[in-house]
Amino acid sequence: MKKIIALTGAGISAESGLSTFRDSGGLWEEYNVYDVATPEAWESNQELVLEFYNKRRKQVIDASPNAAHHALASMEKKYDVTIITQNVDDLHERAGSKNVVHLHGELGKSRSSTDSSLIYNIEGWELKPGDLCEKKSQLRPHVVWFGEAVPMMEVAARITEQADILIVVGSSLSVYPAAGLISVAKKNIPKYLIDPKEVSVHDIDNLSCIKEKASIGVPKLAKTLMENES
Ligand code: APR
Repeated sequence: MKKIIALTGAGISAESGLSTFRDSGGLWEEYNVYDVATPEAWESNQELVLEFYNKRRKQVIDASPNAAHHALASMEKKYDVTIITQNVDDLHERAGSKNVVHLHGELGKSRSSTDSSLIYNIEGWELKPGDLCEKKSQLRPHVVWFGEAVPMMEVAARITEQADILIVVGSSLSVYPAAGLISVAKKNIPKYLIDPKEVSVHDIDNLSCIKEKASIGVPKLAKTLMENES
């Protein structure tokens, strides 16, 4: 089976009703990233940080996967598909994708603020001040903040090197190291970038840009790839 790697960003979940970050009306227009998504923000105002992620967790619980998530999952019938997502939602899993690597963490999980190996599922939508890990430290969202290392990056790079086909969906490719993954894939393999807007990419061989919304572009591409030899 050929290996498809799909690198996804906030744009794939936009049509499920979840805001992107950098589009007009995006989350980083409503919030200052330094107030809610940095270790410094956590030091200075845990309540605000928890509230920001609680709101987003609630939205995700109420959202459903869209045609793009489903199309990626359906390709597992013919391909060995791994999704590498920058998204903290679980819409790929809920669409049925079996191999999902979360580069920036998962909204549905919390972890100890003093021992990063202690990770828990969050029941419901709320993580509150006073919610403690088994070592009695405050629980924080299990997400990667700006200024923090991306622990899954090495794993993601090794997987991307193995790709026979690379699909990038709904990412502005402006946040590193995740954005660098597109350069890690082999030069000669087909690469597709699905985004309704122009995304700035340089020196990427064999790249086809499909200027469509994810819910249109991904099912179309999936249909073509499913009809091809795998
Ligand atoms: N279908 C496909 N793409 C879309 C759609 C759609 N319906 N709507 C918007 N997009 C595209 C935008 O054109 C843009 O290129 O999705 C992209 C979203 O870009 P960002 O908001 O920058 O999101 P992303 O690239 O995932 O951000 C990376 O930044 O703040 C951090 O940690 C956060 O994981 C996130 C990282």
